[in-house]
Amino acid sequence: MTTRTAAPPALDVRDVTVRFAGLTALDDVSFTVAPGTVHAVIGPNGAGKSTCFNVLSGLYRPAQGSVRLGDAELTRLAPHRIAALGVARTFQNIVTTQGTVADNLMLGRHVLSRAGFAASALRLPRAAREQREHLARAREIAELTGLGEHFETPVALLSYGDRKRVELARALCLEPRVLLLDEPVAGMNAGERARTAEVVRDVRAELGLSVVLVEHDMGLVMRLADEVTVLDFGRAIAHGTPDEVRRDPEVLRAYLGTGTTGEDAA
Ligand SMILES: Nc1ncnc2c1ncn2[C@@H]1O[C@H](COP(=O)(O)OP(=O)(O)O)[C@@H](O)[C@H]1O
Ligand SMILES: [Mg+2]
Repeated sequence: MTTRTAAPPALDVRDVTVRFAGLTALDDVSFTVAPGTVHAVIGPNGAGKSTCFNVLSGLYRPAQGSVRLGDAELTRLAPHRIAALGVARTFQNIVTTQGTVADNLMLGRHVLSRAGFAASALRLPRAAREQREHLARAREIAELTGLGEHFETPVALLSYGDRKRVELARALCLEPRVLLLDEPVAGMNAGERARTAEVVRDVRAELGLSVVLVEHDMGLVMRLADEVTVLDFGRAIAHGTPDEVRRDPEVLRAYLGTGTTGEDAA
């Protein structure tokens, strides 16, 4: 299952600092997401993980530092420009409730081809063909994310785990080269977590994209990530393979009081 297309460019986060009135949420943070890898960003609550995602996706502008995807400078681009360059994200607390799975995935496709829509409105046969192609691709992505049998189902009728994966599938409909997942298994039961982990692994292998994963479930991080960056109070205190970081004394110290980096920590 490794039909890789061209590897995505490296995503390079350099010396990024974000401040909120008096609070430094990210303090000179650097890390590189190597092409085609799963890179986890972990850390205790309030460490700056979501802030980091908000910088990567253009919602926050850092006071200092840069984010580059290959040669493209992303640092001060608007979110839709960053998405157009191939960086798509899911949100930590959003679970879709409206429309069918197909409707939600087609929303992702429409964002992708918005520029073409005005033009295609004047050329109906082509527009109809494009619509069919988008629907076919949305169906493929639904299959890939384990939602194929629910394609026409209203999302409100799906299990929580499936609904959360609709959000992942919608992000994939943007054909990203880098997929940002903010706590993709939050609130899921063990079975749903395992299923989602499998989906992330399949998606990476099939689509050849890079994944940046923010996740509290250490078991999942240890199984999925090629590399891990550990944040604590806005600082990157460790980088390495899952095995390296779980044995790092500073990481263990950061996690004292908020759990452990063992398989069972949530
Ligand atoms: N928009 C904001 N305004 C003010 N403070 C914020 C904002 N977003 C995050 N913070 C603060 O920045 C720190 C990091 O938050 P966050 O990135 O959400 O952490 P994490 O996702 O690791 O739990 C926290 O102290 C949080 O309260
Ligand atoms: Mg968060």
